[in-house]
Amino acid sequence: MHTELLQTAATDLASELLVVFAVDDATGAKDDPQPRLLSGESAIEQAAEFALASGEFQAEANEILLLHAPQGLAALRLLVIGAGKRAKLTPHVLGRAAGAAVRAAKARSLRSLAITFPATELDAAAIARAIASSAELADFDPDIYRSDRKDRSIQNLSLLVPPSTDSAAAESGLREGVIVGQSQNFARSLVNEPGNRLTPTLLAQRAAAMCNENGLDCHISSTDRLQELKMGAFLSVAQGSDEPPALIVMRYEPEGQPEGPVLGLVGKGITFDTGGISIKPSANMEKMKYDMAGAAAMIGAMRAIAQLKPRVRVIGIVCSAENMPSGKAQKPGDVQISMSGKSIEVINTDAEGRLVLADGLAYARELGATHLIDAATLTGACVVALGQVRAGAFSNDEDTWKHFEDAATISGEKFWRLPLDDEYRELLRSQIADIKNVGGRWGGAITAAMFLKEFVNDTPWIHLDIAGRAWIDDPRPDIASGPSGVAVPSITEWVRSFSS
Ligand code: BES
Ligand code: ZN
Ligand code: ZN
Repeated sequence: MHTELLQTAATDLASELLVVFAVDDATGAKDDPQPRLLSGESAIEQAAEFALASGEFQAEANEILLLHAPQGLAALRLLVIGAGKRAKLTPHVLGRAAGAAVRAAKARSLRSLAITFPATELDAAAIARAIASSAELADFDPDIYRSDRKDRSIQNLSLLVPPSTDSAAAESGLREGVIVGQSQNFARSLVNEPGNRLTPTLLAQRAAAMCNENGLDCHISSTDRLQELKMGAFLSVAQGSDEPPALIVMRYEPEGQPEGPVLGLVGKGITFDTGGISIKPSANMEKMKYDMAGAAAMIGAMRAIAQLKPRVRVIGIVCSAENMPSGKAQKPGDVQISMSGKSIEVINTDAEGRLVLADGLAYARELGATHLIDAATLTGACVVALGQVRAGAFSNDEDTWKHFEDAATISGEKFWRLPLDDEYRELLRSQIADIKNVGGRWGGAITAAMFLKEFVNDTPWIHLDIAGRAWIDDPRPDIASGPSGVAVPSITEWVRSFSS
């Protein structure tokens, strides 16, 4: 999709589809809806006047009104897209509405659209950014292996800014939105692949190709190197599979090598999680191809960082393996020695994500990371706690958490912080080793995070449990069902917040 900013009057633009936002001005809950266009152009207002007066369109979020051959406009169609109540309008609401417009265009096999910049008091850069990134997300379809697949991708999207809008701000917002949206789609394309088509080796190849295209340093290694590094926890997960593990190290080193923080981004890259010897039930097991969504988020974020070029050093680490049962697989009760030297009693081989991350986090510290963030589809318990609306977030450091909270506000992604009280650590006490890898029935998302905490020591750290957010079960107006690419925007913003 080619995206551009145009300073053209929407009235005169001969496009296939002209999009204009509408809000509901009614304030009281019982008031009749009062749909109003967010357009500064009277010709557009007139073209939609009768349709709006009909009462058929209420400007609810993502509601669509499509007019053909709109009078007085050069466009072939006018699409009015609802953005809900005016009082609740945010750049992200506008972004999602733009995404819904893009998907409406795709459903009609249209190839290009022009969106009129909404006339509001909101920040122009934030609006442009939200529209551009949501439009990119909306353009993604996961049906890549269907032989009757119709390519319905959008070729051109124009954002029409009126003279009253700060076009430089809109332009930079647009550019950022495109980068972040495309990087999120890159993560989605990785998560979309089934286990047979994205083994750890193939994931590493895809990451290396991305790094090559974006000027990032990338280093891939496997079993021999993991043995040298004494990554006993990571290796124990990989040992049951015929597929070799992959340790992916991506580096972003900005010019001039600024002093200051080195950010370590660590992703769980289980390309398929059968549970291992503690095997999962077969119902829904096919979904465990998305158990590498944390890794994909980090690879996607590294892509965005390479293009946005913040002044801060970043190391991305992905620990990728397949969790399989076999005659070589680890067994419940086995004791593994992690890279940090800590011994782990493996009570449940299905709690494998924390094992690979234990070594990934320790390695990031060894490579000089001063601040850590990890993302993982870590626990079903987190989905039980927060459902599919918010992802779980944890931190051992208030300042680093503040950076993340602000980043999530900018990205518009929803997280909920969960606690890390010392009392939870008791649940991980092992009779035979330093720690065991599961903590019993209750508080499973927290005990998983407590396990990881043992391996970050005092390094400021954020842990994101994205199990409930990485896969979208039902399609929405603005986005297809399937992989979500969650956390790419927030991690990217978190990194940018450290830029000197
Ligand atoms: N990959 C799963 C977690 C998961 C569950 C992700 C549902 C997405 C959706 C993880 O490796 C796992 O199996 N965790 C176990 C931990 C348990 C054995 C302590 C779980 O959540 O059941
Ligand atoms: Zn598992
Ligand atoms: Zn898993």
